Amino acid sequence: MIGVFDSGIGGLTLLHEIIRQLPNEQYCYYADTENVPYSTKTEEQIKEYVDKAVNYFLEIGVKAIVLACNTATNVCVEDLRTRLSIPIIAIQPAVKVAIDNDTRELDGKRKHILVCATPITLRSARFQRLLDSLDANNIVERMALPELVRLAEKEDFGIDAENYILETLKQIDIQKFGSIVLGCTHFTYFEPIFYKLAPQLSIFDGNEGTARHLKNILNKLHLLESKRSQTPQIVFIESGKPTQNIQRFERYMEKIEKLT
Ligand code: SIN
Repeated sequence: MIGVFDSGIGGLTLLHEIIRQLPNEQYCYYADTENVPYSTKTEEQIKEYVDKAVNYFLEIGVKAIVLACNTATNVCVEDLRTRLSIPIIAIQPAVKVAIDNDTRELDGKRKHILVCATPITLRSARFQRLLDSLDANNIVERMALPELVRLAEKEDFGIDAENYILETLKQIDIQKFGSIVLGCTHFTYFEPIFYKLAPQLSIFDGNEGTARHLKNILNKLHLLESKRSQTPQIVFIESGKPTQNIQRFERYMEKIEKLT
């Protein structure tokens, strides 16, 4: 079994892609719905929440853990990798993919890339290191959109989200940008709104690359499942307990299915 962790339902967008690439595996999806959103919490609190989820995964004997929450990743991944012996795969904003794929220019200069994420992700040392290694031309800019996490958790994908994104995009000179990187798994639900409001922009998220990375790691360690099992494929856990509301998770999975 593979453990997939998120502060809430954002990581389902990554889980969906992982299942597409690894259909024979079994999954435990752990949503910390008691504590979402993480962007309003301290680093100490986030570490405590993630530890609780990780202990749960270790008790049920997962073979790998996927951190599908950018905010938690930025706070905890290094410590977890030092302490644990199983693979810890972590999502990260798809800045490299955007830089490699969007080579458009404006007035002879590369178009800029807008990374949208939570404030914790955008000001984290890990994100800064990513930019230091990739953004030699200083074309990456940051935009915090924490409200999208709350809206996604409320299944509010309509006009409130559209107005919020519109108001935020008004603060930048959109012509300068070629791409948006969605640096929070919750934001993937709003891709259609980003496309509607800024159709000239390419949109990237880290889901495809992270799923591929997980597959490569498991393959290398000979941990890939070759046969599909008969038992249910996903167990949904909310803050340490089996969910009482499986329909909610199913609704999100259906929504993601329609996005792809
Ligand atoms: C949050 O819980 O505030 C956001 C989680 C994320 O960064 O994916």
